[in-house]
Amino acid sequence: MRLRNQTLTGVDIGTHKTCALIAEVNPETGNPLIKGYGFVETRGLKRGAVVNIEKLSQTISQAVNAAETMAGTSVSSCYVSISGDHIRSMNTQGMIAISRDTRGGIGEAREIEQEDIDRVIEHTRAIPLPVDRQILHVMPQEFTVDEQSGIKNPINLLGRRLEAKVHITTYSTTVASNLTRCFKNIDLTIRNFILQSLASSVSVLTLAEKEAGSILIDIGSGTTDVIVYADDGIHHTGVVNFGDQLVTSDIAYLLRIPHENAENIKKNHGYCFTKNVDREAIIKIESIGNRPARELPLLKLAEYIEPRMEEILREAFMEAKKADVPFTSIQSVVITGGGALIKGCEELAESIFHMPARIGFPTNYSGCEEELNHPGYAAAIGMLQFALQEKLNNRIKPAGSESWLSRIWDWLKNLTESIM
Ligand SMILES: Nc1ncnc2c1ncn2[C@@H]1O[C@H](COP(=O)(O)OP(=O)(O)OP(=O)(O)O)[C@@H](O)[C@H]1O
Ligand SMILES: [Mg+2]
Repeated sequence: MRLRNQTLTGVDIGTHKTCALIAEVNPETGNPLIKGYGFVETRGLKRGAVVNIEKLSQTISQAVNAAETMAGTSVSSCYVSISGDHIRSMNTQGMIAISRDTRGGIGEAREIEQEDIDRVIEHTRAIPLPVDRQILHVMPQEFTVDEQSGIKNPINLLGRRLEAKVHITTYSTTVASNLTRCFKNIDLTIRNFILQSLASSVSVLTLAEKEAGSILIDIGSGTTDVIVYADDGIHHTGVVNFGDQLVTSDIAYLLRIPHENAENIKKNHGYCFTKNVDREAIIKIESIGNRPARELPLLKLAEYIEPRMEEILREAFMEAKKADVPFTSIQSVVITGGGALIKGCEELAESIFHMPARIGFPTNYSGCEEELNHPGYAAAIGMLQFALQEKLNNRIKPAGSESWLSRIWDWLKNLTESIM
């Protein structure tokens, strides 16, 4: 499929900020070339779920308008990130016969085609789901052809039986419907939802990290998203129901200062690994009213921050442990999201996970690099990369659709794009 000159729009609705990005495809690299962005403080969302339709619609509208003005274009549809404690995940598998003899038994081996892969993946979707739940992503881990397991791409291999192991994520249709209403209110169509942790991992993790096994943790303001890769497949996705706004709240409460001041102190002086803090350093804290400024040892501040950051990372650790692979097959941990910027985060993560840690910044995009070079934009940028990749693979299906319906949808979409 030709993707040049097509515009892609992604809207990452975080608890702290909503970020809209408009991109084209960079003809040299095939990566997103960001043409416009808009960042707005989010209103009307709590831990991934809409709590005020009007306020969230306004937030999205402001972010998209800013991106449109900058890109000099107007958009009618977009990809949207989704997260929150309504997201569930599971590992499952499906199996199909590649060829059948005339009596309905398994016949001669033949070459595996893309249609067989689509068919076996479709089989894995046949899981019982409550009425208020829909499949978000089906992510293949590996295939087995007859007795041969561990195959990443079975195309053209000869076989009689094809088995797929997949990771499936589902979401609450109520949460999705409320999000959809916000977009409808401002005349925007949602092309598809993309899981936030998956989006972040696409822009932050290297192929080597995915193959060697990595845990990606996106510490946002209100949620912490976790995704576990092993052998270049996804083995767990999970959401911890709180993020680093709790650190700010703790500082505000313990120092009796406004939330805004606490946020600045956290960003400018906060440290979450007390072992490495300068024990002599003192900072000045502005007091409310006419009271004189107070002095606070940096170590004391770090002692306020460390337990909460440790709690976030320990909860992320427990989530990662739910993966169906042993921890020995995971080599590193990568932390992204705005919360990753707190000083000492790598050291604290290494002490909890007992493996090397790094802070993940978004990569593999161009345009507006200076403004977007921040872990808080990993999900927004990754969303565009994921959408691009899926469009190339022609695999994206509208959420909840059946395969024949999605083919018609894809066909109509391609037709519209070729006309426009
Ligand atoms: N330099 C910094 N040091 C410490 N914390 C920071 C820094 N910059 C941003 N943060 C924190 O990052 C958080 C915002 O992160 P991010 O933008 O990833 O959240 P979000 O995507 O809006 O939220 P969520 O993903 O939870 O819905 C805020 O709580 C902010 O305090
Ligand atoms: Mg986020």
